[in-house]
Amino acid sequence: MDEFLVFPKDFVWGCATSSYQVEGAWNEDGKGPSIWDTFVHTPGHIKNGETGDITVDHYHLFKEDVALMKEIGLDAYRFSVAWSRILPEGTGRVNQAGLDFYDRLVDELLKNKIEPYLCLFHWDLPQPLQDKGGWPNRDTSHAFAEYAGVVTERLSDRVKIWMTHNEPWVAAMAGYFSGELAPGITDVQAAFKSLHHLLLSHGLAAEAIRAHAKGSVKIGITLNLNPVHPASESRKDRDAVVRMDTILNRATLDPLLKGSSPMQEFAVGKLLSRTLIKPGDLEKIRSLDLLGINYYTRTVVKYDRKFPVVAATQIQPEGREYSGMWEIYPEGIYELLMRINADYLTPVPASKGMEQKTPEIMITENGVPVPDGLDFDGRVRDERRTHYLRDHIAQVHRAMAAGVPVKGYFHWSLMDNFEWAHGYAQRFGLVYVDFKTQQRTIKESGYWFSKVIKQNGFEY
Ligand code: FCB
Repeated sequence: MDEFLVFPKDFVWGCATSSYQVEGAWNEDGKGPSIWDTFVHTPGHIKNGETGDITVDHYHLFKEDVALMKEIGLDAYRFSVAWSRILPEGTGRVNQAGLDFYDRLVDELLKNKIEPYLCLFHWDLPQPLQDKGGWPNRDTSHAFAEYAGVVTERLSDRVKIWMTHNEPWVAAMAGYFSGELAPGITDVQAAFKSLHHLLLSHGLAAEAIRAHAKGSVKIGITLNLNPVHPASESRKDRDAVVRMDTILNRATLDPLLKGSSPMQEFAVGKLLSRTLIKPGDLEKIRSLDLLGINYYTRTVVKYDRKFPVVAATQIQPEGREYSGMWEIYPEGIYELLMRINADYLTPVPASKGMEQKTPEIMITENGVPVPDGLDFDGRVRDERRTHYLRDHIAQVHRAMAAGVPVKGYFHWSLMDNFEWAHGYAQRFGLVYVDFKTQQRTIKESGYWFSKVIKQNGFEY
């Protein structure tokens, strides 16, 4: 028999997007270039040579998009600010026209009773800062704090939730180690340095936000986290799990929530960390009111000596369901929430000077790519997405029933958009976008989500 899963009254239902993926207007109103502009304009990086120059033109169509959010019934919208719209050179000169855009967006959201969740960095670093070394350069952390202060000064009379980073691990590892994302660098030391400086910049920005805030604010960060499973029960594969979990999950969770760093567990980390992690850094990083979790899939690994750093490689287990990008594994969101709660949120006696209150947690991204299209009657029947959502949100509910205090759930994404190296081939939206005409259509999954929000739960 189906059961009706009820969520707490104040549970936050939202959708997420990011500046580079939806805004377009890549060189308008004084915006400077970001590493993503450079990356997409260099042949060979993006599927079919596609770019986010226009993407879904949210910069001009944001009112229409807020109206869609309202129609779906969202409580909250998580978006990111393009740093290079605000500070075209990365530091120094402020471009008021850039701030004006987010000002208009925030007002439009509030007018429609949608809470803005503002993220300061979703990977689009100003190119002039990359020219000075990018995230491997410690100065970038200070530049980020300067930028955070400028945005806070302008918007904190209305914006209460401030997320510093989206997936700093991906920005560091895919940007500077695998090179799959901008700036496309393949240097393991640069990646480790980047990760530390991204985390440090979170701490420095948290100070700047608190210093400039016009009212009470909550400061958070969003992490990509995956449960890691062994390909077999062999000792070697189980050891590979420990190493992969350390690099993938603990590398961000430990500094943010425990004030320690597991970097030393890797040879390259050991080599760097004496000079990289300066006295006081870890205390600064550990500053968090809200932990956002992005969950898409699990990671299954097997021992592989050839693979640098972790001596492990990811495999695709057989007999499972897959989307165009990942394995579909709904239980993973439950496993993750349970583990984070047990290892990081259950208060442990803090060492002196490192006391911190337990942060709130939320799912800040979860979703699935589906090759959607308009049917003859103009509807988009994306059943697979609805199934994915049902199964994953039910697992969030299961974790909550087991005592994990999850405060909200944000779907990735509000609408189809530019999916990084995949270009426009992977559609993640609750809203279908015809990329030629910019016509928006709410998909069946969007109507389903809307009903869930209205009822604050669903039959499962
Ligand atoms: C996450 C990113 C987001 C989007 C989804 C599919 O890692 O934060 O921008 O690309 O994956």
